[in-house]
Amino acid sequence: MSRRFDKVLITGGAGYVGSLLIPQLLDLGYEIVSYDIQFFGDDFLPKDHPKLTSVKGDIRDTEALKKALTGVDAVINLACISNDASFELDEALSETINLDAFEPMVIAAKEGGVKRFIYASSSSVYGVSDQPDVKEDHPLLPLTLYNKFKGMCEPLLFKHQSDDFVCVTIRPATVCGYGPRQRLDLSVNILTNHAINNGKITVFGGEQLRPNLHIQDMCNLYKLLLEVEDEKIAGETFNAGYQNQSIMSIANIVKKVIEEEMPELGDIEIVTTPSDDNRSYHINSDKIAEKLGFRPQHSIEDAVRDLVKAFKADKLPEPMTDDFYYNVRRIKRLGMG
Ligand SMILES: NC(=O)c1ccc[n+]([C@@H]2O[C@H](COP(=O)([O-])OP(=O)(O)OC[C@H]3O[C@@H](n4cnc5c(N)ncnc54)[C@H](O)[C@@H]3O)[C@@H](O)[C@H]2O)c1
Repeated sequence: MSRRFDKVLITGGAGYVGSLLIPQLLDLGYEIVSYDIQFFGDDFLPKDHPKLTSVKGDIRDTEALKKALTGVDAVINLACISNDASFELDEALSETINLDAFEPMVIAAKEGGVKRFIYASSSSVYGVSDQPDVKEDHPLLPLTLYNKFKGMCEPLLFKHQSDDFVCVTIRPATVCGYGPRQRLDLSVNILTNHAINNGKITVFGGEQLRPNLHIQDMCNLYKLLLEVEDEKIAGETFNAGYQNQSIMSIANIVKKVIEEEMPELGDIEIVTTPSDDNRSYHINSDKIAEKLGFRPQHSIEDAVRDLVKAFKADKLPEPMTDDFYYNVRRIKRLGMG
């Protein structure tokens, strides 16, 4: 498959996934606009690249967004208060960004001549399920506002699906691994950080099943979604996950990899404590494999090894204290939450 669009706008481009995706799309020859409120700045995006424009903008500011959409063929929508942080942050902030701004943004894109809109929902929309395999038609049982708004935006997008405005929703698993705007508030990344920098891993609960996806596979999926034929994705929703693992098995993978890669740290202890976070689901990603040929290539173990490399190379300074790595802490410090 080859490139079918020239110019792509990525909302939330200066976030964890965007920070790894943008350089890779530039390498493929795309012209990119990152449109991001820049909670984390944009220092980690490529500098002075002739095909990259980094706009500091809010998706709630439809007029500014419309300007940034000039000449854009495709949108990847990543902008979000992306955490199950609704209990900790001002709910109105999540609601205005994660829900209220969504449909006006979709309409602005459609009216602005965008031909494809790719929406990052989340596999956490399923909340909790004891079914062995959660497929796309499973009912949504959101447990937090974040999950609820993610799910509510999906039909708001599909209202605008048409032959010349192709809309697709993906429900990715929890992403793991190294990205230039690193997040250390996601399960595999948290456990790895704690193992390396605290010498022990605390597991809350442990039996909950969580699906995971390596950040490189996440980027590969966005590249694919820019390339596939309209008919394969128009109006479709896809789960996108690789390994479904219990938190305890993730902790054991982390322990094994760190003990191998950093023997100087000695034995990594795993401590269990009770948890009231009961999100648990086993997602099935057969549809995306069958329809689009998307099969993740990178494991949780790879993600842990990549993080170890980044720590060793001093790419992640002050991992416990710098709020650059922590969405909720950063938004609170900015006085927005
Ligand atoms: N990381 C995961 O595990 C995961 C899993 C499933 C789905 N997703 C979804 O994928 C997307 C990207 O995730 P991520 O981990 O890179 O998140 P992230 O928090 O690192 O990035 C989100 C970006 O959106 C920006 N943003 C927030 N509010 C904005 C606004 N009003 N206007 C413009 N920009 C705004 C932030 O500055 C941030 O850079 C999110 O929508 C997230 O919900 C992520």
